[in-house]
Amino acid sequence: FQHSAPQRSTSQAVPDFAFAFDIDGVLVRSSDPIPRAREALLFLQRSRIPFILLTNGGGKHETERITELSSKLRVPLSARQLIQSHTPFAALAPQYHDRHVLVVGGDHGSCRSVAHAYGFQHVVTPADILGTTPHIWPSSAVFSAYYSSFAQPLRNDLQKHKRSLLQIGAIFVFADPRDWALDLHLILDLLLSHQGHLGTRSPRNGDASLPNRGYQQDGQPPLYFSNPDLWWAARYHLPRLGQGGFREALEGVWRAVTGGEKEGVELKKEVLGKPGQAMFEYAERALGEEREEVLKGEGDVPKLRKVYVIGDNPESDIRGGNMFESPVGTEWESVLVRTGVFDGGKEPAWKPKTIVKDVWEAVQWGLDRSG
Ligand code: G3P
Ligand code: MG
Repeated sequence: FQHSAPQRSTSQAVPDFAFAFDIDGVLVRSSDPIPRAREALLFLQRSRIPFILLTNGGGKHETERITELSSKLRVPLSARQLIQSHTPFAALAPQYHDRHVLVVGGDHGSCRSVAHAYGFQHVVTPADILGTTPHIWPSSAVFSAYYSSFAQPLRNDLQKHKRSLLQIGAIFVFADPRDWALDLHLILDLLLSHQGHLGTRSPRNGDASLPNRGYQQDGQPPLYFSNPDLWWAARYHLPRLGQGGFREALEGVWRAVTGGEKEGVELKKEVLGKPGQAMFEYAERALGEEREEVLKGEGDVPKLRKVYVIGDNPESDIRGGNMFESPVGTEWESVLVRTGVFDGGKEPAWKPKTIVKDVWEAVQWGLDRSG
């Protein structure tokens, strides 16, 4: 393939199409760049064809993650181009400005600073709770050196031995939890609590005269997951469990705790990220801003007509691209690559427009299609 993209001559039309790239399994495997990913992005940059990165990953602020990606891929990228699973959480910060929120996921409680940057004022992490109340989950004592390196113990007035005054207004799973047991247990405690007061139990739990047998009917905090991914493509050659695996574990415990096979109830939660409509609407708006930037100085920017969403996971990237209903009538076409979760073995559960070897082929297919 040619390294240097043809420069768009002034006579060539300003592109009315763009690309949305998934990250894990399309551009990188953990921190290893995928072959030809750099060339694909450089080609688009040199051709001044806009693109964004649309990932169910997260755990760091967009500015930090894009700096890392730019260095790994050796391609200059901007935070404007990056939408992570938790990016849309920022819109929820105002409604919890005066509440404590539990933020779960990421390394070393990294999501605390992300939540603060998004505008959440009172952020608590599982490490803070464990640091303040070690006996809340004895099995995590073995990880105390790790936790004490970043925990911020709670203010004294927020905890009493028996009835905690710490009241959690919402639970956000920003990124894949590391210590599933501790995180799952604290979420379970809060969902069974009286109005989000850690260390309590609601008297309504199990009351068959109430909806949902009384569970989550007593002001317990809403539970937000940033993505549904059961699998994702890391460095290991087989897919790894993602945040969807953690949620399934929690849902299994929830069903057992709320009555088991016969009487167990459904867990009420919000699951955002791909393939959801909201995530793709967010992406489309970001693409609009990115096009303004990339196509600046080229006269009238034509309406965005087509977006090619390039992904490795049929359940999130392909399903999302196929189901998305653009509020402004843009057509989204999904392209599945074989460098990630989908290994080409059998028919994908969600049918893409085409299946290609890798992101370079995906870009060439899109360009051929857009003329
Ligand atoms: O945690 C990362 C995983 O959920 C998938 O990320 O970039 O393939 O959407 P991505
Ligand atoms: Mg992926």
